[in-house]
Amino acid sequence: MASSRVFLSEQQIQQRIAEMGEQISHDYPDGPLYLIAILKGAFMFLADLTRAIKTPTRIEFMGISSYGKGKTSSGEVKVTKDLDVSIEGNNVLVVEDIVDSGVTLSYLLNVLEQRKPKSIRIATLLDKPERRLRPVDVAYVGFQIPDEFVVGYGLDYAEDYRNLRDICVLEQSVVAP
Ligand code: PRP
Repeated sequence: MASSRVFLSEQQIQQRIAEMGEQISHDYPDGPLYLIAILKGAFMFLADLTRAIKTPTRIEFMGISSYGKGKTSSGEVKVTKDLDVSIEGNNVLVVEDIVDSGVTLSYLLNVLEQRKPKSIRIATLLDKPERRLRPVDVAYVGFQIPDEFVVGYGLDYAEDYRNLRDICVLEQSVVAP
């Protein structure tokens, strides 16, 4: 892959996920803990995070689409794949690869809170606080990162690079025509 550099290595990612798993296991001594991963980017983080958590987990997926990648605070969001189960009365952890504007999560939390979970929190591997348009309370953050375009470990650029083991920065000449 041309014009990229490793930003977070596989080893750094795995080390941090192990720490996050310890913390989450401590915070939720009793299962089941429902992990809801947001497709597609979170699939790889979910796979590693669930194995780092000692508490019994259940795995669910949701699909969200947002119109226009130049998201604004009024960005429209809709659910394209809903949960297959009720989360009423259960502890829920929403699993994201990255929180950027916060538009996706603020919408999604609103949807999920209406379903009366016992508790709901967010775990994200990456957080770009500089880009926030909507406030989102994120309980578990892997890495706070600057506003750089990152790919790999589930994150894509035009659907490419999701299978990289490291998280890499794509140089501007690749991202912007
Ligand atoms: C990414 C990421 C989050 C969302 C965060 O998904 O996985 O769901 O954007 O951005 P926000 O905080 O600005 O709302 P994306 O729309 O790229 O879809 P993908 O996971 O399928 O790649």
